[in-house]
Amino acid sequence: MSRRLRVRPATRPLTGRYTPPGDKSVSHRVAILGGLAAGETSIRGFLDAEDTRATLNAMAHLGAEVEESNGEIRIRGGALKPPSEPLDLGNSGTGMRLLCGMLSGRRELKGNSITLIGDRSLSSRPMGRIIQPLEAMGARIDSEQQHAPLHIVPRALKGIRYSMPVASAQVKSALLLAGLTASGDTVVIEPGPSRDHTERLLPAFGIPVRDGAPGVAVQGGAELRAASIRVPGDLSSAAFVMAAALLVPDSDVALENVGLNPTRDGFLRVIEALGAAPEMTLDSSVGLEPVGQVRVTHQRLRGVEIPAAWVPLAIDEFPILMALAAAAEGRTVIQGAQELRVKESDRIAVMRACLESLGVAVDETPDGAVIDGGAIQGGTVESQGDHRIAMSAAVLGLIARDEVIIEGAEWIRTSYPGFVTDLNELGADLAWVD
Ligand code: S3P
Repeated sequence: MSRRLRVRPATRPLTGRYTPPGDKSVSHRVAILGGLAAGETSIRGFLDAEDTRATLNAMAHLGAEVEESNGEIRIRGGALKPPSEPLDLGNSGTGMRLLCGMLSGRRELKGNSITLIGDRSLSSRPMGRIIQPLEAMGARIDSEQQHAPLHIVPRALKGIRYSMPVASAQVKSALLLAGLTASGDTVVIEPGPSRDHTERLLPAFGIPVRDGAPGVAVQGGAELRAASIRVPGDLSSAAFVMAAALLVPDSDVALENVGLNPTRDGFLRVIEALGAAPEMTLDSSVGLEPVGQVRVTHQRLRGVEIPAAWVPLAIDEFPILMALAAAAEGRTVIQGAQELRVKESDRIAVMRACLESLGVAVDETPDGAVIDGGAIQGGTVESQGDHRIAMSAAVLGLIARDEVIIEGAEWIRTSYPGFVTDLNELGADLAWVD
């Protein structure tokens, strides 16, 4: 059911402490690895949202035993069986791409055809980027012209050395997960850094990841062993709260347990370039992933040219960065960001429409946008089925002249069901009005 979210302009600063929900990327990976590992994997801080639930459910349909109590998820894996129905990944590109790679070479599922389905948005996203290298490893994946539904017939794979045309953690991870079952080494070479959560997690499950110089390499055939994992807070969700604190005058928010993985920290670099001064403290007991505290206070922002090399490091934060650019003084230039067009929506086009509805001029380019910041008007914005568009518009509503209505805001549930409550606890006024 479509839901409308009303955001009233803030009448007081946002203040207090804030802890983001669990990291989406890490949660997907731990669900998959936990379902592959023999023994009991314990997960704390798992993201309780639609996307990550879809992956966890898929692993349960594949035979993993999942139990939950007191904020802990326990998975007993290691004995995959064919699912009795198609695995529905909903809106989640990460879930579909990683599971496709993981399933391609599973010996225990040989002779079966496993179908992965998704919603309308996911079914329109490109899957050729994983199908083509997986087929080069020997996989059989039938699709609708390289789009979901995907029908995977698991069979013996051989390792390959693959140079990815675009920096993509989803492609890299799909190939590494396929490589776990392949003969020999699978080496993945990236044109630039993308998030490295898979490489950090595999050793915790007993799988060495080698420097493929250049690239990363896994050797097929090793058994995963169960692990105990604490999922860090999601920097991509925290980014909305940081942006809100930057925009609303006199705000001062202390964020805790924020994942600060350097392959994900592009948002912090860009807001510093825009004039923010986030104070970061790394927790001393750094585990698999660096985690820390970030204090963000209100600042006046000025437009910048965002270096193309930073794009993969902040790939999910561009909707909210475009919102910040709309509120900054002067011009912001985004380039080298054509990947934004194949996310949950075409984020360049949809954010342009969103900012224009709120009175800000945007020039769309094939690989980015030029945004001239200015006053934010009230108005109605359509999420186009994209959680991050809905949340970006909501943040901008805090400094709009009049209230902002977001249509299709129910999509927020895919990554951050607690978004409205969390912002209201810091002093905002957001309400569901349907
Ligand atoms: C993700 C990788 C990114 C990102 C997505 C999550 C992951 O996609 O946009 O939200 O968990 O691996 P690409 O790797 O395709 O850029």
